[in-house]
Amino acid sequence: MSQKEHWNNAYTDKSVNELGWFQQNPEPSMGLIRSVNLSRYAEILDVGAGASSLIEHLLEDGFQNITVNDISTVALDTLCEALGKEECNVEWMPDDIVAPTVLKELPLIDLWHDRAVLHFFTEDKDQLTYFNLLKQKVKSKGYVIIAAFAIGGAEKCSGLPVLQYNHEMLSQRLGFDFELKEAIDFTFVNPKGDERPYIYTLYQRK
Ligand SMILES: C[S@@+](CC[C@H](N)C(=O)[O-])C[C@H]1O[C@@H](n2cnc3c(N)ncnc32)[C@H](O)[C@@H]1O
Repeated sequence: MSQKEHWNNAYTDKSVNELGWFQQNPEPSMGLIRSVNLSRYAEILDVGAGASSLIEHLLEDGFQNITVNDISTVALDTLCEALGKEECNVEWMPDDIVAPTVLKELPLIDLWHDRAVLHFFTEDKDQLTYFNLLKQKVKSKGYVIIAAFAIGGAEKCSGLPVLQYNHEMLSQRLGFDFELKEAIDFTFVNPKGDERPYIYTLYQRK
């Protein structure tokens, strides 16, 4: 089964609030985003956004230029329906972040946000593609938020193996051009009540 089929099935088989990664309140992401005082016209890209409530919260905060990426068109359709027609005023960008096509055409961005996506890329070549795209797209002085499963945390999600991270590993991948502003150990409690430790990081490009 392809990755696209896997994720389309995941979003077809369960309602959004039953998914293992469902978050009603997208913290600490929103807190980190608010802390950097972006302009309401900032270009924001949420990679692997799925049907995340983050988009609704960003729209409520008045952000006007939000691009929503996912490999699953079912996820993006579900999110669009949940937001309602008037709120669907975001750029939808279905694409594979580790084999990007339309994502490559995206103009430079002020914020790259990833919650629970990078850790699925267990192969070095996919990690390289991911970080190359990020480095091509984030403006000078732009921000990066990456939230991934922490070392010692869950070994699988959605039936797929994951690579666990700490902030040193992320800093190494991003290189000296990205300054670590904040690293937060955050324990997410999933809809079944299980604890899922994450590392949340905020970087600024020099
Ligand atoms: C665990 S979910 C997290 C969703 C969302 N970020 C959130 O916090 O609710 C992982 C998401 O990554 C998406 N995804 C997986 N592989 C991808 C890829 N290669 N390109 C883009 N999205 C991908 C999945 O479809 C899914 O929506």
